[in-house]
Amino acid sequence: MGEDKMLDKLSIEEVEKLGYYDFMGYIGIPFFNVGGFASIDRLAELCQITGETRVLEIGCGTGANACYLAEKYGCTVVGIDMAERMVQQATKRAAEIGLADRATFKVGDAYHLDFPDATFDAVITVFVSQFLDSTKAFQEFVRVLRDGGCLGVNEMYRAENVPSEIRLKVDDNERVFRELTQLPFTLRSPGTWHQAFESAGFDAIKLEEYPNSQQQPYSGSMVEEFGGWRKLMGTLWRLFVYALRSGEMRRRFTAISGTKKVLINDKETSKYIGYVLCVGIKTRKRG
Ligand SMILES: C[S@@+](CC[C@H](N)C(=O)[O-])C[C@H]1O[C@@H](n2cnc3c(N)ncnc32)[C@H](O)[C@@H]1O
Repeated sequence: MGEDKMLDKLSIEEVEKLGYYDFMGYIGIPFFNVGGFASIDRLAELCQITGETRVLEIGCGTGANACYLAEKYGCTVVGIDMAERMVQQATKRAAEIGLADRATFKVGDAYHLDFPDATFDAVITVFVSQFLDSTKAFQEFVRVLRDGGCLGVNEMYRAENVPSEIRLKVDDNERVFRELTQLPFTLRSPGTWHQAFESAGFDAIKLEEYPNSQQQPYSGSMVEEFGGWRKLMGTLWRLFVYALRSGEMRRRFTAISGTKKVLINDKETSKYIGYVLCVGIKTRKRG
């Protein structure tokens, strides 16, 4: 497997025991946010990220967004993730593309950030706050932001007006994803995201909605997020081998692809589901 070889070799039984995101990290799957790098550019614009900005990415996964921001905008990015194998992949990615000085990664918990108060100019999450208790987590994000700093999130939403038969389908897939990840995955409405920013005391809140039905899911930056065709093909091959060898893996892959189909690709449901970009500024007058 050359330079693509896995960080360490686990037996199939050990792989089956990994948590969902450690497994994804082990295989080397970057998570695809539906808007791709275009949504990351818009988030950077809304958060006014420049070469001077110190960014914290919560739930950095395999580091695709953090490396993209550090490379394109010249900012410094620290990524934290609770899944050790995600952090290993992110660190490897940054080293491979010569960004190890500006994109650094460590294991960490969104609810207990290991940084002093006011360390960062911007805190971002990409498809991560939807797995968190935002009331608790946003207080911690506020703590590590300097006054005038910005919280920016790119997270999935469900519209307020979902017809009841579609709501059942969405609820069911929300439950499947919760079971897979063992995390409290919740599709909030755009209004609920706005409210979460208000409750945490953010000012100048801006929210943009992007329905999935108007996106081309996973197009464009997918190969780039993987780190090139060679890595993409290597990862697909590993997935195929795991699916062949393990019933548990087949169960996981079937559940994941079913959920993604309903939440992202299904013509009926994807009108009501999408992602929001929401940003707010921490101001001095907060309590
Ligand atoms: C859907 S993935 C998104 C990864 C990355 N942001 C991206 O867009 O590629 C969600 C990530 O959040 C991480 N995560 C979930 N809850 C967390 C928590 N409480 N603290 C730190 N990381 C967390 C998971 O381990 C996973 O890597």
